[in-house]
Amino acid sequence: MTSLAKIVTPKNKIQSKTSSGLIARARSPFWLAPMAGITDAPFRELMDEMGAGVLISELVSAKGLLYNSEKTKKMARIHKRPGTLTGIQLFGESAEDIILAARIVEQEGADFIDLNLGCPVKKVVKKGCGAALMRDPGYLETFLCQIKRGIDLPLTVKMRTGWSEEELTIHECVSAATHAGCEWVAIHGRTRTQGYEGLADWDLIREVKAKASIPIIGNGDIRNADKARQCLNEAKVDAVMIGRGALRNPWIFLECMGEPGRNTQTANQLLNRYLEKLRKYYDTRITLILIRKFSAWLAFGYPDSAVFRRSMFELRTEEEVLHCAREFFLKAGHLPPPKFDQEEAFMMGGHG
Ligand SMILES: Cc1cc2nc3c(=O)[nH]c(=O)nc-3n(C[C@H](O)[C@H](O)[C@H](O)COP(=O)(O)O)c2cc1C
Repeated sequence: MTSLAKIVTPKNKIQSKTSSGLIARARSPFWLAPMAGITDAPFRELMDEMGAGVLISELVSAKGLLYNSEKTKKMARIHKRPGTLTGIQLFGESAEDIILAARIVEQEGADFIDLNLGCPVKKVVKKGCGAALMRDPGYLETFLCQIKRGIDLPLTVKMRTGWSEEELTIHECVSAATHAGCEWVAIHGRTRTQGYEGLADWDLIREVKAKASIPIIGNGDIRNADKARQCLNEAKVDAVMIGRGALRNPWIFLECMGEPGRNTQTANQLLNRYLEKLRKYYDTRITLILIRKFSAWLAFGYPDSAVFRRSMFELRTEEEVLHCAREFFLKAGHLPPPKFDQEEAFMMGGHG
């Protein structure tokens, strides 16, 4: 336990601070999940245009912001669009770091601060951050109270269901977040030990929601619009977060709201739009890497997509990537949209 526990005694803890009503400002209940190395500013801007209800950044190091690292500051950039809600997800070893970083992020124009309590990565949990914070709900409450008291922006948290099957602390951790005055708790329905194995436990998410007095956002394995609506209705959560499903099908948020999906806008148009945004943020080298990756995700599930993916990584210019993608998607355009089954292994690792 850090010195913070001594600073914040039970007497001066914040008890059930009133919420700022942030969730009522969400455009829809279908949100983009935070993904390190992916949900950077250009990707969030693209997903905003594609109908995501709320956007959350990739995991941003509080220390990196405090050290004025250019790379970290770039991660916390916010695009402005009326009605858009963007949160910056921070991680840090101390509440002080997070409070100071939150001030920087607030100046950038973030709407809220999200705290990552789900990261299973060894380097992170060894420092007592990420999923390790779920092992001691009492300390977690103290930690969240301290942060809440020090920041002006609304505070939200994203967690797993617990450390392991034997340590399912989700109910206690949701109580901690409620008492600390957080706006909502997003739950990726797996334990830290599970990593990305097995399926997300939506029964447990439903159970947590039924008991909670704070908005609950469900997350895990939503790969099409039907499943998103089903999870929303059956678990009765306040919203759902979609991560990997949006990489293979960026139209998913529009489809969730009953709007036309893949048919109206071709993959090539989307690639061009993404490329425009990437060019505003990155140099040619990074732009090329990111546009190749995005093209490869869009191609998954179509015939010959493995060949296409391999060829992508041999191309040397953005023009070559666009040309190759144009040929591929023109051929694939008339085919039904590819399926993405929840059992299919895809990007089985990440910071949450
Ligand atoms: C590549 C990758 C990076 C991730 N990075 C983060 C992160 O920075 N912060 C976080 O809270 N969760 C992170 N996650 C977890 C996702 O937000 C989400 O909880 C998880 O992927 C399950 O949802 P999905 O099945 O819809 O993808 C990441 C996941 C992936 C695949």
